[in-house]
Amino acid sequence: MVVIDTEKCNGCGLCTTVCPHRLLQIQDDLAGTVDGDCMGCGHCQAVCPTGAIEVEGLAGALGLQRLTESFQAIQPGEYDGSDLVRLMRSRRSCRSYTAEKVELALLEDLVRIGTTAPSGTNSQSWNFVILPERADVEVLGDLTADFFRQLNNQAKNPLYRFLARLFAGDALGNYYRSHYASVAEALREWDEMGIDRLFHGATAAILVTGKRAASCPGEDALLASQNILLAAHAMGLGSCLIGYVVEAMRRSGRMRQMMAIPADEEIYSVIGLGYPAIRYRQVAGRRPVRPRVLHLGSTQSAAAKGESGR
Ligand SMILES: Cc1cc2nc3c(=O)[nH]c(=O)nc-3n(C[C@H](O)[C@H](O)[C@H](O)COP(=O)(O)O)c2cc1C
Repeated sequence: MVVIDTEKCNGCGLCTTVCPHRLLQIQDDLAGTVDGDCMGCGHCQAVCPTGAIEVEGLAGALGLQRLTESFQAIQPGEYDGSDLVRLMRSRRSCRSYTAEKVELALLEDLVRIGTTAPSGTNSQSWNFVILPERADVEVLGDLTADFFRQLNNQAKNPLYRFLARLFAGDALGNYYRSHYASVAEALREWDEMGIDRLFHGATAAILVTGKRAASCPGEDALLASQNILLAAHAMGLGSCLIGYVVEAMRRSGRMRQMMAIPADEEIYSVIGLGYPAIRYRQVAGRRPVRPRVLHLGSTQSAAAKGESGR
């Protein structure tokens, strides 16, 4: 996959340093490739100071339609970290949207931005479904409501819960105790008043799937999703992950078929999108976190010293 222009190569060897599979070597003062599985990460191309390397199959441009693309990498420490943290802290799960439609070009841009995320073994095995209209989101909402209506009917039946526990553990009982009542109320509001407690009135949605056979499809899809959430905020959109739809789609072949998800893909996230009707004045707080800091190196060397009597 890697093509080296020997006219341009200056033999600096940077490509050999960054290649994760050590497929590049300096031979006679020039970079060359050795046989092996290239995962197409593009690091060799990105690091080359003379533009001598091309990795076949990698598009240089994302093809964004509503943002300007720059190919110059931002160096570590060069970006204003405070501004980045402020952006991250300002993203909110949006639960109130205007009726304004999101143009398809913007949704396509978000998908492309999603693909800049890291992926296990660079598999990039994610896929995306765009629902560009409120009517499309409502179809997915209706399908999800059908799924939960059926689940609630089963869960409220004590005999069904008892039998389910015998054969499949207490998942249905747990669902009954934790979610049955709120889901029943949300379904009633949806059916009787058209109140959308599922998508909160989102006018578009992006579904993120991954190939089941990939090394870590769930992680890849969720990292891409986080990129989409942050970019959506930067581009003026509100967004919200909708876990209830993911749960329903995982269990409903009919839903997956309607949403054009192939059998070899799993759904990992559903993102509601639209223009936010509410502005937040300040960032939301978080519970303080106390990471466990381990100084294993010093403990180990102390133990080793103890053992060896040093
Ligand atoms: C996996 C996952 C599933 C979620 N599912 C829903 C959902 O079904 N409905 C919803 O309103 N919010 C959902 N959320 C949003 C969370 O409630 C939200 O992230 C959390 O309350 C923190 O708020 P913030 O996103 O504004 O920081 C989900 C979030 C995650 C990470």
